[in-house]
Amino acid sequence: MNHYALVPAAGTGERLGGQTPKQYLPLNGKPMLFYSVQRLCASPRIKRVYVVLARGEKWFSQHDWKAFAGKLTPFYCGGETRAASVLNGLVAAKAEIGADDWVLVHDAARPCLSTELLDKLLDELGGDSVGGLLALPVADTLKRADGAERVQRTEPRENLWQAQTPQMFRYGTLTRALQEMQNREVTDEARAIEGLGLHPKLVVSDARNLKVTHAQDLPLAELILKSMERA
Ligand code: CTP
Ligand code: MG
Repeated sequence: MNHYALVPAAGTGERLGGQTPKQYLPLNGKPMLFYSVQRLCASPRIKRVYVVLARGEKWFSQHDWKAFAGKLTPFYCGGETRAASVLNGLVAAKAEIGADDWVLVHDAARPCLSTELLDKLLDELGGDSVGGLLALPVADTLKRADGAERVQRTEPRENLWQAQTPQMFRYGTLTRALQEMQNREVTDEARAIEGLGLHPKLVVSDARNLKVTHAQDLPLAELILKSMERA
């Protein structure tokens, strides 16, 4: 069984704002997308890395990706939603990937994935029939708000997890799941797999694998990346 990685990078980064999509914003001098690509390309366990870019976008080609030649394939086939971008990328890679091969979908906006977490995911899911995802048990106390930002009640956090990426599923199953869920709200691959009645495995991650969503996350990601370099 081969492993492939697919990096959706066709978003506009609306919550972060600005003219440049967040995946191209500099972190310690390199575009955010560089870090996910570098980590996935460096793994000898991953055969090829696909990035899904917005159709006709002009940012990707402004950076130097030569270090990953031979392993990195860009597809300019992004869709309206993350799920559509992932599905378009899977369809574009159809000729190269077998139905039973594994696909690891990883956000361009999660630049701080460590080799240790990547290997942990691959180790824990290698023999799994469904696949799964990196995720983090919720640590904070959870409040349900009313419409006026006042606490309505406290929600139990027992058995609640925050989903991260990579999310790792079989090519055939994931493609079918995303096709069947095309008209539904699907914000990660696991949700689509759940729609087939399957139960993805949760692999304990850590908080450093954060998704850069708001501007305040940028300096935090830079600090984490620096600390990872030193380690
Ligand atoms: N993504 C994508 N295609 C879309 C939307 C999102 O490939 N139509 C990608 C983003 O580029 C990102 C990942 O999915 O790497 C996670 O999405 P998110 O963090 O929500 O990024 P954006 O959608 O760009 O940000 P926002 O929701 O703030 O607009
Ligand atoms: Mg989004």
